Amino acid sequence: MVEKSKASKRGRIACSMTVRLGSITLDNPVIPASGTFGYGYEFAELYNINCLGSLSFKGTTREARFGNELPRIAECTGGLINSIGLQNPGVQRVVEEELPRLRACFQKPIIANICGFSVEEYAENSAVFDQEEQVAILEINVSCPNVHHGGMTFGTDPKMAAEVTRAVKKVTTKPVYIKLSPNVTDIVEIARACEDAGADGISLINTMLGMRIDLKSRKPVVANKMGGFSGSAVFPVALRMVYQVYEAVSIPVIGMGGVASARDVLEMMLAGASAVQVGAANLADPFICQKIISSLPEEMERYRINSLEEIIGGAH
Ligand code: SIN
Repeated sequence: MVEKSKASKRGRIACSMTVRLGSITLDNPVIPASGTFGYGYEFAELYNINCLGSLSFKGTTREARFGNELPRIAECTGGLINSIGLQNPGVQRVVEEELPRLRACFQKPIIANICGFSVEEYAENSAVFDQEEQVAILEINVSCPNVHHGGMTFGTDPKMAAEVTRAVKKVTTKPVYIKLSPNVTDIVEIARACEDAGADGISLINTMLGMRIDLKSRKPVVANKMGGFSGSAVFPVALRMVYQVYEAVSIPVIGMGGVASARDVLEMMLAGASAVQVGAANLADPFICQKIISSLPEEMERYRINSLEEIIGGAH
């Protein structure tokens, strides 16, 4: 149990930042979100990343992918649009080259973000990561809005989300978290379908489908026309969805979407998140996760919180 002490006007209080995701204990709830933190070791050049609760690495497909055509980023008020298109070196190279580099500088449990273009591919990639000791959770990404015939196609239909969940559960003994898309009418229906199919947890939200148009060219800014919008502007939407899903399921929820401060982490946990991922904020400030973790004790003290575990779902 990690205990952080902090001097206060009321004397010294001890606060616990430890959280549990099922049987997995994290020193703190702060996790860089997939796609915003590479494979982690890149950030280890900037600071000791062992302060993180865990990290979710870039979404991985069976084959290597170059990703979508450029340009694939558009700036927006309160965030950005990305249309990366699941650029990654493919599952074998991730296991053989990227994970050993990460292991050399990060000794904590990690989350494998797994993508696919068919139910079979999700299962195959999951089976590979099932063999990796450091991988504690399989985060099944059925919510990427930037690829055709894959990603979000599986996460916007409860039957398909359930089918992917069942296929992955068959090939692994590790906890399976399904990462959901906010681009649906009823997020609760999808979350329930995943829980019924055996999911061990839910991650939400991925990015919101959006676009920008360049006034000079009168054409969409990103080559793929549309992309996933993320950043602080989506925080209230993410918070609302975490709140709704927490109420509907009895498995742990990892909350994400626009989180950029310790206060956002506390809000997410009050809504029902057992742990919290930080995404777009890493792109603006590569030190943001470290800053959030070091300011959490002070914010906990400000709001008289002794233990983060105790506030999960506290707003209900
Ligand atoms: C991308 O690579 O296009 C983003 C990943 C995602 O939205 O899941």
